[in-house]
Amino acid sequence: MASLRRFTWLGLVLILVGCRQDMHDQPRMKTYAMSDFYADLRSARPPVEGTVARGQLHEDTYFYTGKIGANPGDYMPSQVPVNAETLARGRERFNIYCAPCHSRLGDGNGMVPQRGYKHPPTYHQDRLRKAPLGYFFDVMTNGFGAMPDYAAQIPPDDRWRIVAYIRALQLSQNAGQADAGQAVPSNSPEFEEPGSGATPPIPVPPSSQTGEEQK
Ligand code: HEC
Repeated sequence: MASLRRFTWLGLVLILVGCRQDMHDQPRMKTYAMSDFYADLRSARPPVEGTVARGQLHEDTYFYTGKIGANPGDYMPSQVPVNAETLARGRERFNIYCAPCHSRLGDGNGMVPQRGYKHPPTYHQDRLRKAPLGYFFDVMTNGFGAMPDYAAQIPPDDRWRIVAYIRALQLSQNAGQADAGQAVPSNSPEFEEPGSGATPPIPVPPSSQTGEEQK
């Protein structure tokens, strides 16, 4: 009796496994395969006119272009607050994607131009120091002259983080007294008690005071 029940179970399992077979062999088109169902013979269909795929609306144009109308804007979008985390991520991404050409300093002396690629301009010049934030976003998004765009490699929020880091990099190479909030170079610290100048006595470890021999 028990063996009969086991046999029934086995049969049920086999039937259920058989159902899965359909999933492995679906009636679908292979990528770019021809199809005689449509007039243009293509199985890949363009999106229906007038529709927007989920996640592709890009309603916030500034976040995706860095521009207000035709001109680059000069503020960070609200999605990317400027804080230590943003700058740390911006530095990491910059060092990966930009430093090979622009160098970690941003002086345009990266390894790639040293081997013959067109030399990028330094970020530490007046024109680029005054360039609005959206301009850097646009260069990354659309490329600039000999420089390819990085839209496919770097998502928009990370592009903005790189923008913030480049601004910090520019400041780091061109900071003045007002930025430091104190005299540059800073004054020497004031000591409360100058001391006699004599060498202080060397403290003797307690074990050597007992005179006991060490084994
Ligand atoms: C393959 C090398 C290369 C990489 C990688 C690269 N750039 Fe460039 N970049 C260049 C070159 C070359 C130029 C100058 C292009 C020209 O004048 O034709 C340039 C120019 C620029 C400029 C200056 C535009 C101007 O107005 O002069 C900016 C800003 C810039 N790049 C930002 C970036 C950022 C940000 C990244 C990283 C996401 C990056 N680049 C990655 C090669 C590169």
